[in-house]
Amino acid sequence: MSKKKLPKLGLVYLDHVLRFFDKSNFKGWSKKIEIVTYHWGKDKDRFIQEVKNKKIDVLIGNIPATAYETFREISKALPNVEFVPSLDTQFSNKSKENVTRFARKYDLEIPKTDIIYDKEKATKFLEKTDYPRIIKKSYGPSNYGGYFVHKVDSADEALDLIEEKKYYPLYTQDFIKISADIRVMLIGHKPVCAFWRRPPEGAWLTNTSQGGTMDYQDVPKEVLDLAVKASKSANAEYWACDIAVAEKDNSIFILECATAFAAFPYIRDWIGQYIMWKFSGGEFKKPNIPLFNWEELGKMDSSVLRVLRHITFGKYTPSSDGDFYTGGKNIENKPNIDDKKYRMLNTNSLSKLLEEWPSEVFNYQDNFIKNSMTQPQIIDFIKICDDESSESFIVNEKEESTEKVEEDSDKKININTATKDELKKLGINTKIARRIIDYRVENGDFKSIYKLRKIKGIGKKRFIDIQLDIKI
Ligand SMILES: Nc1ncnc2c1ncn2[C@@H]1O[C@H](COP(=O)(O)OP(=O)(O)O)[C@@H](O)[C@H]1O
Ligand SMILES: [Mg+2]
Repeated sequence: MSKKKLPKLGLVYLDHVLRFFDKSNFKGWSKKIEIVTYHWGKDKDRFIQEVKNKKIDVLIGNIPATAYETFREISKALPNVEFVPSLDTQFSNKSKENVTRFARKYDLEIPKTDIIYDKEKATKFLEKTDYPRIIKKSYGPSNYGGYFVHKVDSADEALDLIEEKKYYPLYTQDFIKISADIRVMLIGHKPVCAFWRRPPEGAWLTNTSQGGTMDYQDVPKEVLDLAVKASKSANAEYWACDIAVAEKDNSIFILECATAFAAFPYIRDWIGQYIMWKFSGGEFKKPNIPLFNWEELGKMDSSVLRVLRHITFGKYTPSSDGDFYTGGKNIENKPNIDDKKYRMLNTNSLSKLLEEWPSEVFNYQDNFIKNSMTQPQIIDFIKICDDESSESFIVNEKEESTEKVEEDSDKKININTATKDELKKLGINTKIARRIIDYRVENGDFKSIYKLRKIKGIGKKRFIDIQLDIKI
């Protein structure tokens, strides 16, 4: 039997950014692994050319917040290159605001959050809301040990803070008294490491870099479930969630999630093994990473774990311990923990032919500042772009709709009622316009604008070009 030809892997590096992977994380990969470095500034075209020259099929790496939009453009210019994780998966890496939008869309528990772009509205909000509350810098680097996270006790304090720090837009959350939070790391949606981060006595920040402690015991199943749900929603090859546990009622919610988290060296090896399995067509085995392995590894000092490499597990053989976690029965003969939920799964490379988070819509920061768009206009874009229902997106922004939006929406072409000539105004030819009309005759109305992609001739690029000009 001939082996599947291995794809060419490339690692994305960026000048001045800490490297997450290196070639040693892909031990055994027989083909040369390329490295492509992005030098910032006006380096986009050169970078694209280098990827093409090196004939890379799969580009692996985390994109930091400040390069995110540029890399969306780069990935569009390289349609045959698979980014791992995809740019859609990395949407949350860009900002806390993006984490919030992601969580709202997929119905993941988060603290009540308000994001307000309009300065006057932000002031009004802070004047009338409850305290204490949390204010965070919305954009820029995430996971900075709470450096851009503030607890404020009054409207005055809040207003002074945003003025002094120039935090814009306002990103604010209810303050939740937290007993601890748990960082969960996942590979192929399987939790592979989880640890508690506990604040120092009397403090509210749980970040261990600020003097808190960490431990590995008894991570609740609900926390793993929420992390798995987030990882699946993001279609993430690897993922990390910080999940907080409220002191009052042990309710849980996501504080942060993204692909770009610090991870122990051995976890990067596991990610490497997973990626090699995913892309080798069977040549590499799926890594066997037992659930709750962290309880055992946690018996080592964390300073040792931080530098330890090459932890691999053998084949699964049941033991009483293992049984408990892998579908064994308890005394009442009921399954203990449903291991099926925690299987390591392949992520779907082709599941999203369409961009899920196109920057034309979701790059709020630049759209607001550069094009001086108003908030209602942008919300309108979200409404039309979200396939099913965008309700969860706009929870705190609903009352914003104004006449301006309606005016704009009048100019849009309704793909369910437009005549052939009206459709042609979108820049499509007679043939494609005909196909749209035939589709309506055969199938009834388009249920979302996304369904237009079913029409031959409406490719990804064309759809992106016209998506803001159409409605249903
Ligand atoms: N809404 C909140 N209520 C209470 N504490 C919070 C809240 N949001 C964040 N924190 C605390 O602040 C820490 C840092 O917040 P986070 O959003 O994770 O920012 P960073 O990017 O700096 O890690 C959290 O680990 C948690 O301890
Ligand atoms: Mg954090």
